[in-house]
Amino acid sequence: MAQTDKDIVLISQDSAFSERIGALVRRQPGFALQECNATLSTMNGKAVELAKTSELIIFQASTNTASDIEALKGIAKSGSAARILAISDSTVPFGLAHSLLQVGATEVVPDTVADAELSRIVNRLSMPRRLTLTTPDLREGQVIAVSKARGGIGATTLAVNLADHLVGHKKRFGKSETRKVVLVDLDLQFGAIAGFLDLPPNDALYKLAKDRIDPDSVFLEQAIVKTASGLAVIAAPDGFMPLNALQPDQIRALIYRLQQSYDFVIVDLPHAMVDWLTPVLEAASTVLIVSGTSVPFVQQTRRLIDFFKDQNPSLNIEVVVGQEKKPLLKSRRHAEAAKALESEFRHWLPPDAKSAEEAMDRGLPLSQTASGSALNKEIAQISARLLSAVASNRDPKNLKAERRER
Ligand SMILES: Nc1ncnc2c1ncn2[C@@H]1O[C@H](COP(=O)(O)OP(=O)(O)OP(=O)(O)O)[C@@H](O)[C@H]1O
Ligand SMILES: [Mg+2]
Repeated sequence: MAQTDKDIVLISQDSAFSERIGALVRRQPGFALQECNATLSTMNGKAVELAKTSELIIFQASTNTASDIEALKGIAKSGSAARILAISDSTVPFGLAHSLLQVGATEVVPDTVADAELSRIVNRLSMPRRLTLTTPDLREGQVIAVSKARGGIGATTLAVNLADHLVGHKKRFGKSETRKVVLVDLDLQFGAIAGFLDLPPNDALYKLAKDRIDPDSVFLEQAIVKTASGLAVIAAPDGFMPLNALQPDQIRALIYRLQQSYDFVIVDLPHAMVDWLTPVLEAASTVLIVSGTSVPFVQQTRRLIDFFKDQNPSLNIEVVVGQEKKPLLKSRRHAEAAKALESEFRHWLPPDAKSAEEAMDRGLPLSQTASGSALNKEIAQISARLLSAVASNRDPKNLKAERRER
């Protein structure tokens, strides 16, 4: 088989180890495995070559960690896109494991990790680096979650219109630039996205929970409906559904599958805390919390930030003020709120009930009903910022500093 067919490379001289990890990888659909009976360092230049054509390299960290470190440096220098999973003997000291991370290993796990957990790690690390995208700079699908400090503040309005802007718009003449975007209504009990976009409610998520199945391609086909502009939507069910009916693993698999096919996965979160929020937050790069500037809002936002950070410390969390115009001068209240949140209010969605409601009534995004409104323009700006962060492959957090410099 040609080298380019190999998605995952497994490097180990220990047959029991190779058998265990090999079996585990083979159970995952869609991956080709190449096994190498060697250590990372004895592979010499071959490891570098394989790293250029693979999604993931798994190697058994040897007791001679120094030679692994040298080999990893060589791979890092080659600029390959492969992720590297080191599986170490549990006797390998923490300091040495840390050195592997410093020189380019994506993750280091002890071989005592249970098979199910290891499968999850392999699955996550082997997501294709580059999807077939219309924008060549984009990498695997970005998950953006939208949360709210209280109901009715405008979170769904933001999620729907952000998704619409991220899709982009087809130009009549010239080159169109559109992206593949899916909007998922995980506000399972009070989901309103179907109404916002004049789509029928969909009981696919209810069936997923009831039948305890994995969201495979058949499920996605039944669950996804497209709007005229090309936005894919998974609407919430119509009837009542207990929030905890869905299992975290089902949501993890759903988000993962969507990331494989879409450039952006926008998730409208419920107000309640449920255990399946964890896989959403683990996969997310950004969470937008729609909030207000008054004390109870700020307190609730602080709680949400702490919870989200706890789930995923590298998450980019941005606070969006809903239904309030950006003040020309920052008041004392705003300064105190920013201090309590340890972050500035990033965006301000101006109050505009007329535009918001007209769009809802017509079942269309703001771009089609009130394109010139300040509300639509602000959401377009959030979209543009997220796009530029992804296109330049930078953490959206860093754009703040760049913006200030300009
Ligand atoms: N910027 C705005 N100015 C004025 N009204 C708005 C604005 N954004 C949304 N609305 C209106 O507020 C109401 C609630 O909006 P939306 O459903 O987006 O909020 P939500 O936070 O998702 O609420 P829920 O708790 O029901 O999920 C709707 O009637 C909507 O039209
Ligand atoms: Mg909502």
